[in-house]
Amino acid sequence: MNKNNPIGIFDSGLGGLTVVKAVHKILPSEDIIYLGDTARVPYGNKSRETVERYSLEISRFLVDKNVKMIIVACNSASSLGIDAVRREIKLPVLGVIGPGARTALKNTKNKNIGVIGTRATINSGAYQKALKDNGNNLNIYAVPTPLFVPLVEEGWSDSPITREVAEVYLKELKKNKIDTLILGCTHYPFIKKVISSVMGDDVILVDSADALAGEALQTLQKTDQLNNSGSKASIQYYTTDSPVIFKETGERLIDLDLSNTKQMIF
Ligand code: DGL
Repeated sequence: MNKNNPIGIFDSGLGGLTVVKAVHKILPSEDIIYLGDTARVPYGNKSRETVERYSLEISRFLVDKNVKMIIVACNSASSLGIDAVRREIKLPVLGVIGPGARTALKNTKNKNIGVIGTRATINSGAYQKALKDNGNNLNIYAVPTPLFVPLVEEGWSDSPITREVAEVYLKELKKNKIDTLILGCTHYPFIKKVISSVMGDDVILVDSADALAGEALQTLQKTDQLNNSGSKASIQYYTTDSPVIFKETGERLIDLDLSNTKQMIF
């Protein structure tokens, strides 16, 4: 494997751009190929079989682009699709669940941990399992909060409606006195402010993107695959729907230049 090959990152849509940003920050010399499956988003209400099929199609596409590692930025795909990808693809495949769970365990003091995500992620039990596998005597409260995704995509990250929805969804977590909350969906970091104001300042919010980027660095170091050419990285974006909409909506959400976007139809 050539060390100068790119890292492949995929998500059901735009939310995984937070992972692109975190990876690029910590690994500025690594080329990245990102695919946002905007034609088939959301994954969060689909079956395991469907999410596995989508994840495999995208991973095969990334392998054809000669990636040296695959990062599954989508929480729903990390919960339902990643095992199928790991069985087939003989490359390091990183997902968000492990890094998110480990970061939560490092932060919690009272061992009451909350997890929010799409229905697919919460019902899969992936975060609950990762937390139990790595920690003891935990009280885990997992709540599906699916309406947050369309609210973020609508650009209502700061609106009173989002706050009201958050108050309803997060009530049980507040009652149970969690001290750490895993934001188990790519879109939730965009409404961190609202979630934090509802939960209170003393609840730590875990955004897996930074933890995942740290694990990507460690994996590349361990496998001697770090790109040390010193050259400036290129980031190529692919979307399965319109590149124009991808660029417009993406740049509204995150401070990245998405001009370099092509369409890929499966
Ligand atoms: N990317 C998805 C996730 O992190 C959220 C959007 C969707 O449902 O596809 O779970």
